[in-house]
Amino acid sequence: MTVRSAPGKVILFGEHAVVYGKPALAVPVNAVKAQAEVTEQADAASGTVRIEAPDAGIDLWLHEMPGDDPLAMAVRLVFAEIGRKPPAALHIRVESDIPLASGMGSSAAVSVAVLRALAAHLGHELPPERASALAFEVEKLHHGTPSGIDNTVVAYEQPVYFIPGSAPRILNVTAAFTLMIGDTGETSATREVVAAVRERWNADPTSMEPVFSEIGSLTDRALRLIEHGEASSLGPLMDRNQALLKKIDVSSTGLERLINAAKQAGALGAKLSGAGRGGVMIALVTPDSSAAVEAALRDAGAVRTIRTEVGA
Ligand code: MEV
Repeated sequence: MTVRSAPGKVILFGEHAVVYGKPALAVPVNAVKAQAEVTEQADAASGTVRIEAPDAGIDLWLHEMPGDDPLAMAVRLVFAEIGRKPPAALHIRVESDIPLASGMGSSAAVSVAVLRALAAHLGHELPPERASALAFEVEKLHHGTPSGIDNTVVAYEQPVYFIPGSAPRILNVTAAFTLMIGDTGETSATREVVAAVRERWNADPTSMEPVFSEIGSLTDRALRLIEHGEASSLGPLMDRNQALLKKIDVSSTGLERLINAAKQAGALGAKLSGAGRGGVMIALVTPDSSAAVEAALRDAGAVRTIRTEVGA
């Protein structure tokens, strides 16, 4: 049996602006993960592949799956990458505890886990840049015009500074910091939110471009603070990024409720994370405020809270 996994992620700064070529910062969240397990399926014809994803209600043979099915595509990409099909029949089982459609990179993590497990089972460990590049192809099926940040942070499993089309910069986090993630429990399709922002941009590029530019500058300032050991000063930058995301109409009542609750309970800054209009928010907390922020998020309706250390 070959097992590989991939973590969830949150975006610290720069979501949406990154689709328009601006930089963004993202970090892996190791408390949640997608896992793929590859075993030999003794009772089936060689060369066949059974794909099972119980959470998604999928249990199908590869040859029955449509060409644009993301799991089927991940499997076919591995065969193309290593230039051969398996000699025996295989069974791939996928599981994930990353909240679905919530901004935590669940689709990218599932792809990376499957790509890695299958390639490894066939004797080929995929390096992060290949796992990321192949997962990006699958992300396009899921999300239309992704920037590539989700597959990058999930495949490198490190905090990254990302500009579309360039190799990621792995962050040198000189002083660890803590984020509290709050899940609104409202799902949101990245494809639709990105398309809504695109419509707005097409209708009025002159008012959208300064917003994206300012988000890009916040991301650059955040990069410097993190690398200089001053992550505790990120709060106001997160608040400003949130105000700009609200301006382009990707926040939601549920997100605002959690963000306000976190701030009132002592978070240094808070913002939505991912595509928005549902999904998760993040709050920058200290050892002193962490428990109070978590309790406040629960009281304000968070269906799940996850504490994650960056750079620990
Ligand atoms: C999704 O995690 C972040 C977005 O910026 C979309 C993308 O970068 O592909 C909203």
